[in-house]
Amino acid sequence: MDFDDLLEAARAARAYAHAPYSKFAVGAALRDEQGRIHAGCNIENAAYPQGLCAEAVALGHLVLAGGQRITAVAVVGEGAGLVTPCGGCRQKLREFGGDEVPVVVGDMSTQRARFTLGELLPVSFGPGHLK
Ligand code: THU
Repeated sequence: MDFDDLLEAARAARAYAHAPYSKFAVGAALRDEQGRIHAGCNIENAAYPQGLCAEAVALGHLVLAGGQRITAVAVVGEGAGLVTPCGGCRQKLREFGGDEVPVVVGDMSTQRARFTLGELLPVSFGPGHLK
């Protein structure tokens, strides 16, 4: 599978990051079940815990556009370490996708790694538990 368009959307979104406190800009992009791409950036807040991760913002865009499922995820950030989704975002993503969903991680020029959501959040609790 080619993730270039998803990574590019995440890079474009990252440019809008509001990260004056951490100075750590993140972009994320999600592909929905219709093939559409929804992107987000992190939005920090002076009341630190109120900040939003890029993945959460992208999920808001997906839901508002009528998206119901995610079929792929891209997260982009710079630095030595891989910018994988944080624990809370793994659970947020799980709401809209299963273990098989690919999660690619990159920087502003390359794809650095590829995981599945199941690898990042094994034995997860999900919507099926409440049926
Ligand atoms: N951040 C994200 O937006 N997504 C992640 O998956 C990891 C962390 C943001 C949150 C905060 O604004 C900054 O990166 C530093 O933690």
